[in-house]
Amino acid sequence: MAASTQLNFKSIKVPFHFKPASKQSLTPDRIRCAATAATHSKSYSITLLPGDGIGPEVISVAKSVLNLAGSLEGIEFRFKEMPMGGAALDSVGVPLPEETLAAARQSDAVLLGAIGGYKWDKNEKHLKPETGLLLLRQGLRVFANLRPATVLPQLADSSTLKREVAEGVDLMVVRELTGGIYFGKPRGFGTNEKGEEIAFNTEVYASYEVDRIARVAFETARKRHGKLCSVDKANVLEASMFWRKRVLAMASEYPDVELSHMYVDNAAMQLVRNPKQFDTIVTNNIFGDILSDEASMITGSIGMLPSASLGKSGPGLFEPIHGSAPDIAGQDKANPLATVLSAAMLLKYGLGEERAAKRIENAVMDALNRGFRTGDIHSAGNKLVGCKEMGEEVLKSADSQAPVAV
Ligand SMILES: NC(=O)c1ccc[n+]([C@@H]2O[C@H](COP(=O)([O-])OP(=O)(O)OC[C@H]3O[C@@H](n4cnc5c(N)ncnc54)[C@H](O)[C@@H]3O)[C@@H](O)[C@H]2O)c1
Repeated sequence: MAASTQLNFKSIKVPFHFKPASKQSLTPDRIRCAATAATHSKSYSITLLPGDGIGPEVISVAKSVLNLAGSLEGIEFRFKEMPMGGAALDSVGVPLPEETLAAARQSDAVLLGAIGGYKWDKNEKHLKPETGLLLLRQGLRVFANLRPATVLPQLADSSTLKREVAEGVDLMVVRELTGGIYFGKPRGFGTNEKGEEIAFNTEVYASYEVDRIARVAFETARKRHGKLCSVDKANVLEASMFWRKRVLAMASEYPDVELSHMYVDNAAMQLVRNPKQFDTIVTNNIFGDILSDEASMITGSIGMLPSASLGKSGPGLFEPIHGSAPDIAGQDKANPLATVLSAAMLLKYGLGEERAAKRIENAVMDALNRGFRTGDIHSAGNKLVGCKEMGEEVLKSADSQAPVAV
């Protein structure tokens, strides 16, 4: 049945052309499902990167959900599965094979599971799965990472915060993804004048990097509740003073957006004190990495949170925010909903297919409303299920929905 509660992700249009032209399908509809499948009028190529640990388990669920939602909305997906991360290291010796990057670039959108695991932890840096992920983001030129943190009413008690603090939280962290200290040079190890070992990194931003992420953030805030908080450390860091100056300079173009600034230490505190004060947060790479993980905990489980990484043109990269969870890999315990919701973001932000996206969001809500929970979000009175069964319940919900209005 259609969900009684809606997922509260507002539809936004980032100010760039992310939507690839849809192509006419040349093949007849062969996908079967219980509901009457629409004839395919559009066809998209999707690169799937299952990766490591629980990655293949959650991608398998998301692929089935995409296929069903697509078939019900007249969309055909052509999937190409490619190795990435530890799986690629084991098969071809590098974390991001050229063929994988080429396939990703040529597709309409990329859906990633997760990468990493104990097995590769001691590898040299260029042979770590995580290096493959950084190279993929660079290779796809995705500089804007959108991470929603929404407390679903059904899961308000899963939050580590009191219900009255957590309930109703609906925020979006817009994180700069391809600049700052994670990429800045110089970086490395060395010795100081006393001969002591040192290590160093550089936080550096060019004006175009701040401007393009600020623009995405203003546009995002405009489509949400019109509030944007820029987080920095401008009381200490020159790079942050520059960040604040550029964000402030853009504000006059968005008189309808209420801009505020907050130091990152305060933001970390405010996120657990009163998270409802935030609508859209924009921040640099490292602060965004940390704050979006903190925001994720407000929602109860890392297994529920999707993300989208977008560039100026070309395919977007969509992935759950969690890692490969080696502690539960291969045990059918993973929550697939973060990846399923990432597939919904793929449809909405990557392909502009809002009806199919809504169908998936509604199906997730419906499965939760019917009481199904994986271990990470389980509480007394609900039905504990594994990854596969959760996927089957989402499919049932998607299949039984009436046509979706957006
Ligand atoms: N984008 C990515 O692929 C990504 C992100 C973060 C970490 N990693 C890598 O993943 C590996 C493990 O890292 P970690 O343990 O710090 O983080 P993690 O997100 O993999 O796991 C943290 C905890 O959350 C649980 N968890 C995560 N996803 C879950 C899900 N879908 N359902 C239920 N429980 C879930 C895990 O069981 C674990 O207890 C490392 O190699 C790390 O580098 C990859």
